[in-house]
Amino acid sequence: MIIITFGTFDLIHIGHINILEKAKKLGDKLIVGISSDNFSYKKKNKYPIYNEKNRKKILENIKFVDEVFIEESFEQKRDYILQYNANILVMGSDWENKFDEFNDICKVIYFDRTPSISTTDIIEIIKNQ
Ligand code: CTP
Repeated sequence: MIIITFGTFDLIHIGHINILEKAKKLGDKLIVGISSDNFSYKKKNKYPIYNEKNRKKILENIKFVDEVFIEESFEQKRDYILQYNANILVMGSDWENKFDEFNDICKVIYFDRTPSISTTDIIEIIKNQ
């Protein structure tokens, strides 16, 4: 089974590790599409702290992750899923139902987010210290 997931994965935290661990348990190979710096900016109106090259290298060194590529846009998501022959698409519950359109080419699973942590929260906490 090939699993695919997407996200910015900036300032890696326990919520990221938990979803990657759960995703990997569903199959044999976990592929992660990390949002390019420009795509992240479009989604969140701010650039990630770590650039795409460094975020990719960090993700590649997490033991649950087998392959990482850079995701350039929402529009290409269907092509990425097909290109990587993914059987299951995993996303966090903040995306609940948002990717159901891909149920025709793979199984779509949403995992509950790890409570009380996000990259945005970490940045705010550090800023306010
Ligand atoms: N995620 C999670 N639990 C958290 C935070 C993130 O399961 N506490 C999941 C998201 O649902 C997504 C993946 O991790 O599937 C990547 O999320 P990302 O947007 O990169 O992380 P956030 O911490 O949510 O970032 P931000 O605060 O910038 O939105």
